[in-house]
Amino acid sequence: MQTRTLGTTGPQTSALGLGCMGMSALYGDSDRSESLATVHAALDAGVTLLDTGDFYGMGHNELLINEALRTAPVAAREKAQISVKFGALRTVEGGFTGYDGRPNAVKNFAAYSLQRLGTDHIDIYRIARVDPDVPIEETVGAIAELVEAGHVRHIGLSEVGAQTLRRAAAVAPISDLQIEYSLLSRGIEEAILPAARELGIGITAYGVLSRGLISGHFTRDRKLAANDFRGMSPRFQGENLDRNLDLVDALRKIAEQKGVSVAQTAIAWVLSRGTDIVPLVGARRRDRLTEALGALDITLDADDLSAIEHAIPPGAAAGDRYPTEQMAHLDSEH
Ligand SMILES: NC(=O)c1ccc[n+]([C@@H]2O[C@H](COP(=O)([O-])OP(=O)(O)OC[C@H]3O[C@@H](n4cnc5c(N)ncnc54)[C@H](OP(=O)(O)O)[C@@H]3O)[C@@H](O)[C@H]2O)c1
Repeated sequence: MQTRTLGTTGPQTSALGLGCMGMSALYGDSDRSESLATVHAALDAGVTLLDTGDFYGMGHNELLINEALRTAPVAAREKAQISVKFGALRTVEGGFTGYDGRPNAVKNFAAYSLQRLGTDHIDIYRIARVDPDVPIEETVGAIAELVEAGHVRHIGLSEVGAQTLRRAAAVAPISDLQIEYSLLSRGIEEAILPAARELGIGITAYGVLSRGLISGHFTRDRKLAANDFRGMSPRFQGENLDRNLDLVDALRKIAEQKGVSVAQTAIAWVLSRGTDIVPLVGARRRDRLTEALGALDITLDADDLSAIEHAIPPGAAAGDRYPTEQMAHLDSEH
C-alpha cells in the first residue's frame, strides 16, 4: 500500500482512506456483514485510515468499527488509524439540530467515542462543523487538552475556510482538513488548499465520487430510500442530475480509452492533485473497495489530465453540493 503523510505534523496513512459513513447512515440501507467484510478487506489491503463520525447512525458507525477491529487480525488492528468527527446534535427521529463545540462538550463526546470504539485513543479528532457560538480556538484548545492527556493523537478540522484554518493552527498543530474535493467540487482550490499548504496542513478529501454521482454506477432511474441524503442533494435532482450525468458520460469516454473505470479515473484525479491529499472512499461493499483501490495503480499524464479537465471543467457541476440550509453550516463556503 502506498502511503502519504498528513501535513507537517500529522501521521503517515495509507494513500487512500476508507470512509465508513455509508455503512451506517445517509445512503439508505446497508448490509452489516458486507460492511464488516469491507473494513476487513480494506485493512487486509493495507488501508490504515478509517474515517467515521459519532453521529453516523448515532453511534452505530463507531460500534461497527469496534466490531470490525475486534474481529480483525491483531497486526491489522494495530495499524488502524481512526479519524472521528464529533459535534453534531441529533434528535431521536434522526434530525440534525446544530453543533456543540464547547470544551466540556468536546471532552464528553470524546469519552463516549472512546467507549464505543473500544480503543484507548482516537488518532484524529475533529469537529464536523464549526459551532457558530464557540470560537474555534476554544474547540481546538479542548482537543489539544485531549492530546495532552493521551486520548487523542492528532487534531483535524472539517469543512472550514482559510481564516478558520489559520486561527486553529495558531492554537495547536493541525494534521489535516477534511473537506469535499472532487472533479465536481473544486471550491478548495482558490484559497483553502493554498492556505492549508502554507500552514503545513494535509487534506483528507471526501466525496471524491461526489457521493456516487461520478462513480459511473449512478443511473438516472435509481430509486433512493427516503433517508438517503442524495434525495435532498441539489446535484441529484431533475435537470441538475441530467447535466451532471452528461459530465460523467464525457469522463467515461476517457476512462474507457485508458481501460479503467469511471470511479477509478475520478479517484486517480484527486490523488494526482498532490501528495498532501488523501482521498477517503465511501466503499461499503468489497467490490466497490477493490475498484477504488485500483485507482492507486493509475498514472494520469498531462494529456489525460487535460482531457479530464475538458470533460469536466472547474465549476461544471449543476447544483450546490449540499441543500441550502446545510450550505449555511459550511464555514468553508463563507
Ligand atoms: N467531513 C465531512 O463533512 C464529511 C461529509 C461526508 C462524508 N465524509 C466522510 O467521507 C467519506 C466518503 O464520503 P462519501 O461516502 O460521500 O464519498 P464518495 O466516495 O464520493 O461516495 C460514496 C458513494 O459512492 C458509491 N460508489 C460507487 N462506486 C464506488 C467505488 N468504487 N468506491 C466507493 N464508492 C463507490 C457508493 O456506492 P453504493 O451506493 O453502491 O454503496 C457510495 O454511495 C464518508 O464515508 C465519511 O467518512 C465527511
